[in-house]
Amino acid sequence: MSNYHIKHLEEYYQVYRKSIREPENFWEEIAEEHFMWQNKWNNILSWDFSKPEIKWFEGAKLNITENCIDRHLTTRGNKTAILFEPNNPKEPSEHITYNQLSKRVNRFANVLKNQGIKKGDRVCIYLPMIPELAISVLACARIGAIHSVVFAGFSATALSTRINDSDCKMVITSDGSYRGAKTINLKGIVDEALDSCPNVNSVLVAKRIQSEINMVEGRDHWLQPLLDEGSDICEAEIMDAEDPLFILYTSGSTGKPKGMVHTTAGYMVYTAYTFKNVFQYKEDDIYWCTADIGWITGHSYIVYGPLANGATTVMFEGVPSYPDFGRFWEIVEKHKINQFYTAPTAIRALAKQGLEVVEKHDLSSLKVLGSVGEPINEEAWHWYNDNIGKKKSPIVDTWWQTETGGIMITPIPFVTPTKPTYATLPFIGIQPALMDEQGEEIKGNQVSGRLCVKFPWPSMARTIWGNHQRYKDTYFSAFENKYFTGDGALRDEVGYYRITGRVDDVIIVSGHNLGTAPIEDAVNEHPAVAESAIVGFPHDVKGNALYGYVILKDVGETRKHNNLRKEINQIITEHIGPIAKLDKIQFTEGLPKTRSGKIMRRILRKIAHNDTSNLGDTSTLLNPEVVQSIIDGHKNDE
Ligand code: WTA
Repeated sequence: MSNYHIKHLEEYYQVYRKSIREPENFWEEIAEEHFMWQNKWNNILSWDFSKPEIKWFEGAKLNITENCIDRHLTTRGNKTAILFEPNNPKEPSEHITYNQLSKRVNRFANVLKNQGIKKGDRVCIYLPMIPELAISVLACARIGAIHSVVFAGFSATALSTRINDSDCKMVITSDGSYRGAKTINLKGIVDEALDSCPNVNSVLVAKRIQSEINMVEGRDHWLQPLLDEGSDICEAEIMDAEDPLFILYTSGSTGKPKGMVHTTAGYMVYTAYTFKNVFQYKEDDIYWCTADIGWITGHSYIVYGPLANGATTVMFEGVPSYPDFGRFWEIVEKHKINQFYTAPTAIRALAKQGLEVVEKHDLSSLKVLGSVGEPINEEAWHWYNDNIGKKKSPIVDTWWQTETGGIMITPIPFVTPTKPTYATLPFIGIQPALMDEQGEEIKGNQVSGRLCVKFPWPSMARTIWGNHQRYKDTYFSAFENKYFTGDGALRDEVGYYRITGRVDDVIIVSGHNLGTAPIEDAVNEHPAVAESAIVGFPHDVKGNALYGYVILKDVGETRKHNNLRKEINQIITEHIGPIAKLDKIQFTEGLPKTRSGKIMRRILRKIAHNDTSNLGDTSTLLNPEVVQSIIDGHKNDE
């Protein structure tokens, strides 16, 4: 029996049990029946979390683009693969069929080859949400080049750090991008980044905003003429199951961003299988995920997962607020969207707008609603359920991470009864565990702890690019023989999971992971700043916002407070991007520290939350007196 498509709760439990008892047989069946292989595996799984080393489908040969494109051509050649909806609603949308996608990907792949890109080379993609983004991702995969997509909202400094970390040879970008009423000069950002990237020797530029840009002779090429020259046939490079498919950077609580490395076969199998089940995708459905392909959600659930299932996947270039806050609902109506997958921060922003903009549109095509990126609060869940889903489209609150590659804890719609704010049950093959601070697993229900995973799953990241030790330290050292997620969670009386949030120094702002350390480093670059500490505090739309405590070198500088605040945020924008700007900055004369000199963030967090009633024992601090002065400063700033 094929367990590919789960249709009722009993079946879920039955398949789940099988996936835990006989994981290898289970995944072998899925892989065997639903994918195209050039060669089968010799070994399904080998793993050792102490090294850590994880290998799935070792010995298998394949190309993921043959699975996402070629194999659909006979049966779905004229079906829309990618439905592009531009930023401006007056511009027509574009339907790219599987046949057209095949030609465009192959043409692009030939351009990459002609530019000297070979299997294993790293290519940085810095593009807005236009078809070229998905096409260039697939073109890299076609020839075995490792793509590293950098979200096009990152600054030049953030971009160059990422390019250099994985030693990319090429950058693919556009002359610019549209974001609502704004245009952004992307190529200018790339030029600035490349001043410090000596190993990039070619830049391909897609035309989007028709602006005048600077082209560096010998390095920069307009994409279109190169595409026009080449052939639309490009043989797929045969890859090993464990060959890297892509690198995607995510923030760590300390140090530079981590280039998570995902490999080919396991990633393909797991993202395809989760896509099919979590969205209950049926052949003629139109599926829309509003994420950007610059994040993992876009990689797995705009590009690879949907295309591996021969789905129609929507790519939206714009923002929810342009030309007005009805834009999402207008698109749902226009394309008769069946599955809609978005983030809590977008839901909260839209919920603030009142219902007129929703009620103007016919949302009756919707069958499944999804949420991802951060915990969804009760109010947002109900608003989404009542007004968008009209209480008939289940909400799948999907918990997962850049590192996990695919969805890990989630309801299956029409199968798992949902519960507001709960991601509910582990997906097939996933074995979560809650751990206490002593490193013991907490068994039973109605408990909470640190969320770990006990057994490998096919799409887990295999390493951090260039730094396997950091991979081990970050994910496999906190708890022996377990993958540690960095999240806290609780398990209710029936075994449903609710993710309670990060337990490390990563803060999720509007669904974006931000490490505090890199932002503090940026703030400390300001010549007037001596030291800083950043914590999160609740924000009604963003979920969390950033609160910075800043010590100045010279107290006299505080006279210029307003400018200083602006300047500090300017530096953050330059180093990381506008998403990391601080909402509040409090100048202070000291920070609470332990005797070993570590900043006590717990206290700073409580003050930022306006919760100073119980700060715990502060007497062991190196400088207990500083706490009251910070509280007073916070109150004066309010
Ligand atoms: C958080 C996004 C609660 C969590 C796919 C995780 C969530 C981090 C949920 C990963 C959810 C993601 N409920 N929290 N449904 N989904 N998170 O790497 O803290 O951008 O560790 O991957 O987002 O964010 P990332």
